Amino acid sequence: MHQDVESIMFTKEQIAARIGELAAQLDKEYAGKTPLMVGILKGSVMFYADLLRAMTIPVEMDFMAISSYGAGSKSSGEVKLIKDLDRKIEGRDVIIVEDIIDSGYTLSYLKRMLYSRKPSSVKICALLDKYSRRVVPIEADYKGFDCEDEFVVGFGLDYAERYRNLPYIGILKRSVYEK
Ligand code: IMP
Ligand code: MG
Repeated sequence: MHQDVESIMFTKEQIAARIGELAAQLDKEYAGKTPLMVGILKGSVMFYADLLRAMTIPVEMDFMAISSYGAGSKSSGEVKLIKDLDRKIEGRDVIIVEDIIDSGYTLSYLKRMLYSRKPSSVKICALLDKYSRRVVPIEADYKGFDCEDEFVVGFGLDYAERYRNLPYIGILKRSVYEK
């Protein structure tokens, strides 16, 4: 896997340090509450597991799986729900945990859908923000890092389901997806 990475964008140490800061921020802002942490499968899994273990307030876990139609390195704008939450979220403080915001289609669809179920609040916590590629106006309430317009893999992020288990976030060599 490593030979397919052009360069490392964020090392595992940088990611761990930033996740610690985000966890402290969430601990503070949700003190006295028990937020429902909604992980978006599969890309958020590493971030989700580390973030939740760094938090000290009580949380509950649930997951959703979504697919943006179309393979490859671009999302198409059409979003499909593959797995819904197990429980009702009415009156809950929901935090969506996502790997990356790119066009914004996925999160705007999700946020709209979750809001219609009458939660008390819905916030977005994304590890990466590829702000320059945004099509739909949506922002993360909590974010790890801004990300340049490069296709990145690792720490949960994939290309064709591979590279998710790289311990860092790296730029994928163009030759991997342009061949
Ligand atoms: P959006 O709907 O365009 O915001 O797409 C978000 C989803 O696209 C993320 O959950 C990722 O699965 C995927 N994605 C966007 N950019 C990248 C990238 O650079 N590497 C890997 N996956 C990405
Ligand atoms: Mg994803």
